[in-house]
Amino acid sequence: MAATFTEKQEALVKESWELMKQNIQELSLHFFTTILEIAPAAKGMFSFLRDSEEVPQNNPKLKAHAVKVFKMTCESAIQLREKGEVVVQESTLSYLGAVHVKSGVIDPHFEVVKEALMRTIKGAVGEKWSEEMGCAWGEAYDQLAAAIKAEMKQAA
Ligand code: HEM
Repeated sequence: MAATFTEKQEALVKESWELMKQNIQELSLHFFTTILEIAPAAKGMFSFLRDSEEVPQNNPKLKAHAVKVFKMTCESAIQLREKGEVVVQESTLSYLGAVHVKSGVIDPHFEVVKEALMRTIKGAVGEKWSEEMGCAWGEAYDQLAAAIKAEMKQAA
């Protein structure tokens, strides 16, 4: 069981997400460019990356995935503070399990996305970045990823 998620941690995640939302188009691109820097092979998994040479500038699916990852992690932080655990709606979770298994996602990929998420946040918030902020996002992401990974095992 994770240590208690504090109000301060929740606030750090929420504040940085509010800031990032204003620039989400560019951050989505940065996020995916970073994913591909860390793991070039991930290109083949995403429908919107597979057939283009470069990361597409204005692709709604790319933006949708980036926003989902950020937003659901932020919601997880809120739940961790409120309930002490991440609870994803059953229908959403089974969809997430199925979509990721179908796309060939495996557990270690979640670490790649985590690293890209952290680097994107760090770059976006600039001076506001702190170790504490990073840990709060990391904890929320890990708990969300654990829920999705457990569901993927059921869906496989
Ligand atoms: C699709 C969320 C992690 C790869 C999706 C979709 C959602 C989602 C909501 C469906 C998008 C749609 O139907 O429009 C998340 C969340 C994650 C996460 C919240 C982590 C907390 C990952 C990881 C990978 C990954 C680690 C692998 C690198 C994919 C792929 C698709 C997908 C390949 C299909 C997208 C397409 O080709 O159009 N994800 N995801 N996701 N996800 Fe994730």
